[in-house]
Amino acid sequence: MIDEGSKELSKLLRSAVEYAATKEIKYRLNRMAEELEVSGATRSEKYQSMIPQLASLLGDEADLIANLANIAAVLSENFGFLWVGFYRRVGEELILGPFQGPVACSRISIPDGVCGAAVAKAETIIVPNVDEFSGHIACSSKSKSEIAVPLVQNGEVKLVLDVDSEEFNDFSELDKKSLEQVMKLINEKYPAPNPLLQML
Ligand code: SME
Repeated sequence: MIDEGSKELSKLLRSAVEYAATKEIKYRLNRMAEELEVSGATRSEKYQSMIPQLASLLGDEADLIANLANIAAVLSENFGFLWVGFYRRVGEELILGPFQGPVACSRISIPDGVCGAAVAKAETIIVPNVDEFSGHIACSSKSKSEIAVPLVQNGEVKLVLDVDSEEFNDFSELDKKSLEQVMKLINEKYPAPNPLLQML
């Protein structure tokens, strides 16, 4: 039979463990926020500095939404793009996910727009001049060029990273290669079949 003293002791131990766990979580969160610093003068150097740090950020956090939100923030803050965000595929539609930038269309029917076309083709699409892309969906009149990068799992697109720029012709093979690496990190973190990336 457990006496009152033992009960008290086990209660104290439980609170100590809970307190330590809270401290550890706070420490981990603070550490990630402080350490994610992208350096470099050129876009290439910035991508090189950013990608390993994103890998570590994804390693530290299990939640998909939190990770997508931070990826959008890192890209937006360090590259100055007009809009950076994710659309997830739900049936024959794309639905807006975490993003940074002006208010955007909540839903896009596949294969409409640059994002829908990237889903239909299951490959990255670079649009040097959005006015010349038939069917482009203008969420902001400031957008001049765009890149849409799909994440493909088991032959099916689950997620699209969309980036808009206020400059014409702002995206090159470098952006394609680097943003595809970012999507690869997400793919590796949430391998198929993953309910977080499954259609609803
Ligand atoms: N321009 C995109 C729509 C999404 S917004 O740019 C955020 C498209 O044509 O699919």
